[in-house]
Amino acid sequence: MTGGGDCPGLNAVIRGIVKSRKDDVEVIGIMHGWRGLVEGEFTALTDDDVEGIHILGGTILGTSRTNPFKDEKMVQKCFDNIEKERIDAIIAIGGDDTLTVAAKLYAAGVNTVGVPKTIDNDVSNTDYTFGFHTAVNVGADAIDRLHSTAKSHGRVFFVELMGREAGWITIEAGLAAGAHLILIPEYPRTIKEIIEIVDKRMKAKGYAIVAVAEGFKPTELDEFVGRKDEVDAFGHIRLGGIAHYLAEIVKEKTGYDTRSVVLGHLLRGGTPTAFDRILGTRYGVKAMELVINRDFGRMVALKGNEIVSIPLEYGIATKKLVPYEYYKLAELFFG
Ligand code: F6P
Repeated sequence: MTGGGDCPGLNAVIRGIVKSRKDDVEVIGIMHGWRGLVEGEFTALTDDDVEGIHILGGTILGTSRTNPFKDEKMVQKCFDNIEKERIDAIIAIGGDDTLTVAAKLYAAGVNTVGVPKTIDNDVSNTDYTFGFHTAVNVGADAIDRLHSTAKSHGRVFFVELMGREAGWITIEAGLAAGAHLILIPEYPRTIKEIIEIVDKRMKAKGYAIVAVAEGFKPTELDEFVGRKDEVDAFGHIRLGGIAHYLAEIVKEKTGYDTRSVVLGHLLRGGTPTAFDRILGTRYGVKAMELVINRDFGRMVALKGNEIVSIPLEYGIATKKLVPYEYYKLAELFFG
């Protein structure tokens, strides 16, 4: 089952699970995230079904942000379908929301194994989630391309990258591509500070690129920039628009010619990098190993170069945020 936002590498995990099963294990895919378990949408997964899919973006199973625990009736339907389909164990591939549902099902007696997925890389107790590497590469490539046009026109570009609570994609893409200022949710700044850094850069070099995470909130603002009227089943508002907001305010206060670019779902689409294909594959194989060993209530994780397993609740206990020392390092290259 793949749940939450899609992510490059999901299909590599599914292929890893199917190909590493034992002969007496039958794998079925639950369609469209937890919604498929509630509504009874399943599909058989054979070697033929997963042939060559590790290079494809998205997920062949579809996904959704359904939260069955919002409604007791939905939870009951999950249990009914588990019994009807004779499901012995569920491998849940998702971020903290999906894994939280998996942990609740486990507490209710369902055999579950978790696989950490999110381009945001904010699942705790694993070094990386797959999809993150691909997102950083796409982001860095986009910022690389902005340098020449920003320089030619003498403009300030604000480029917005995904990252709700953690600024991993923004800091790594920004560092790799030489952004002149990086703004992430973990380390708020005032608009005055932002203007000072941009102004200094413009006076010295004549153009500037600011990488900003969608979840960044300038100190002066009380609320995040986004669609407060659109809230998902897990209570998250739809973020988006901080780059435009900053571009407008900086233009108004400094007179510089500013532009904004939102990378958004481009970071999540398309084929995974080799790193994410391999990480996804290794996670899938490890998840099937846990199922075969009946080692449930666990999440696969990357520690150094080893794929290990940890209690599921360790992955969802907290968010893995960008440490201050890392942000300090990035600051050396601002301006
Ligand atoms: O999966 C996490 C994430 O990539 C966040 O960074 C972002 O806020 C969200 O997904 C966007 O999701 P949706 O596809 O629902 O617009």
